Amino acid sequence: MSSENTANPTYPPSSDLVANAHANEATYDAMYEASISDPEAFWGEHGKRIDWIKPFTKVKNTSFEPGNVSIKWFEDGTLNVAANCIDRHLKTRGDKTAIIFEPDNPEEPAQHITYKELHRRVCRMSNILEDMGVRKGDRVVLYLPMIPEAAYAMLACARIGAIHSIVFAGFSPDALSARINGSDAKVLITADYAPRGGRQTPLKSNADAALLHTKDSVKCLVVKRTGGQTTWVDGRDFDYNEMALEADEFHTPAEMNAEDPLFILYTSGSTGQPKGVVHCSGGYLVFASMTHEYVFDYKEDDIFWCTADVGWVTGHSYIVYGPLANGATTLMFEGVPTYPDASRFWQVCEKHKVNQFYTAPTALRALMGQGNSFVESCDLSSLRILGTVGEPINPEAWNWYNDVVGGGRCPIVDTWWQTETGGHLLTPLPGAHATKPGSAMKPFFGVQTVVLDPHSGEEIHTYPCEGVLCLKDSWPSQMRTVWGDHERFEKTYFSDYKGYYFAGDGCKRDEDGDYWITGRVDDVINVSGHRMGTAEVESALVAHAKVAEAAVVGYPHDIKGQGIYCYVTLMNGVEPSDELTKELRTWVRTEIGPIASPDLIQWAPGLPKTRSGKIMRRILRKIAEDDFGSLGDTSTLAEPGVVDDLIENRMNKG
Ligand code: WTA
Repeated sequence: MSSENTANPTYPPSSDLVANAHANEATYDAMYEASISDPEAFWGEHGKRIDWIKPFTKVKNTSFEPGNVSIKWFEDGTLNVAANCIDRHLKTRGDKTAIIFEPDNPEEPAQHITYKELHRRVCRMSNILEDMGVRKGDRVVLYLPMIPEAAYAMLACARIGAIHSIVFAGFSPDALSARINGSDAKVLITADYAPRGGRQTPLKSNADAALLHTKDSVKCLVVKRTGGQTTWVDGRDFDYNEMALEADEFHTPAEMNAEDPLFILYTSGSTGQPKGVVHCSGGYLVFASMTHEYVFDYKEDDIFWCTADVGWVTGHSYIVYGPLANGATTLMFEGVPTYPDASRFWQVCEKHKVNQFYTAPTALRALMGQGNSFVESCDLSSLRILGTVGEPINPEAWNWYNDVVGGGRCPIVDTWWQTETGGHLLTPLPGAHATKPGSAMKPFFGVQTVVLDPHSGEEIHTYPCEGVLCLKDSWPSQMRTVWGDHERFEKTYFSDYKGYYFAGDGCKRDEDGDYWITGRVDDVINVSGHRMGTAEVESALVAHAKVAEAAVVGYPHDIKGQGIYCYVTLMNGVEPSDELTKELRTWVRTEIGPIASPDLIQWAPGLPKTRSGKIMRRILRKIAEDDFGSLGDTSTLAEPGVVDDLIENRMNKG
């Protein structure tokens, strides 16, 4: 229900929901206050929500001080993350379903994997990896479809104490080999094929191509998902399905320090190549499990579905680690929202009686455009909480989600966070906050968000206000470092605003103190909820023999949120053509992967540059946005005429 008479309509939760929720408004206020006034006491208590082998005595040891950034939580405690996600549930939840696997093809039966079965599978995978030489601290790269074996592999690494690094199956062989080399991985785990939307991506042949550019010693464990034909290199390739038949189904979990790395996940920034975000064992698990419980108001018998891919952080925290640490039933979906048709998400919700559904605005916008009948033909009465993540949600999509999918009954949690943050930082809690379409609302417990003036770097204490979003202090699942490059970590996140973690997003804070994310303020774009550095697409383009120079910016896209707009200057003598547009598009897909495929390529005989040669992206962004009226000051350009040419060409594109 909404109260329409304010500028921003608000949607309070039902009294029934408030009465039964983990937190109502008063609980939230009290817990938030406690978490900020005495973080040691708060996290000392909530740190106990997971099982420790040796309990911690120190809670927080963190510094954002320039030159000395260091983040440690529960630093003298020891634990095993996989044991927390599996073994500790065996006594009470052994026969409960841990993972529901819904295959791409709806005709193929779903699988229900109990905690006992998960234990057997993960132990076998752990023994297989150890047989292949994987030890504590080693890196293992996963390049897998959304199949249960992806979860087994993650948990097997955690059990051994090896560090996993998942590469989204939509990335190209080049991106894969860069990540294998970047973390000096010992083993790559892949599958023969990845079925998705009725098509099959040949993962193993991509892996073969990637392994041509890595050390010869890298071994490859292959899950036979489809049984389709693949090439096989004896001595390098190992058959998971065959080995699993023989492998021992017991395995003793390694005792890990809270600060031992759990995983590396590469993510895009505004400069250079993607960086390996490092998350550690203790703090990450505490925060992932606690946010999963509170933000989704998770209760024991709920069926929880996060539609992300395990290749992204959302899949790490809210398909695998958070839900399984809580002993939940988590759904893994191999397919896409529109296959066989646009009712697939809703059919899966009906089929498995999903209670919490968590997805990205881009999927909602795409489905909204298909009409309501795809939703209305399904029984969605099991849904209780809806969530979104990855990009700002526009009010139209929010309202559609609320009315058509949620039937006006289900609070929407718009969760703002990042690969770097490990878990939700801003979000409403379902029983505590009256939501507002498009607002990520309030900081989670222990999260000290501040709005800074981008020019002075001073905190703004007025309401309403607008500025850049920063964090004043650490939270348990904060990334610890960039793999192999602590200096880059400091420079990227702690140098723009001294003493703060700078998220890279701009925001508004309204008169009620609620946050509204306005989007990235750096050269990172968000395409269908996938985060991408414009610099990466540019370096892919200029690696093509016919391209002299390229500048890439985001522009508003109805479905994807942002599209990829490329300005390309060709080498002397090369003529632009539609064929060349296609060739460049294919080129970028091969260099990075299909998710980086350019939406628009504009031939640019010249790019707007300052006299010192710096490309003025602000102008390029405005042109791509069709916003020619506010190009700002162009007088500092070396050749102001190029702007007119670019505008003329942009107009020709309609
Ligand atoms: C954006 C995904 C608005 C933001 C978990 C952030 C959002 C980047 C939201 C991180 C949201 C994420 N509202 N924007 N609810 N959630 N973002 O690392 O720009 O893939 O910095 O993590 O996505 O993307 P990443």
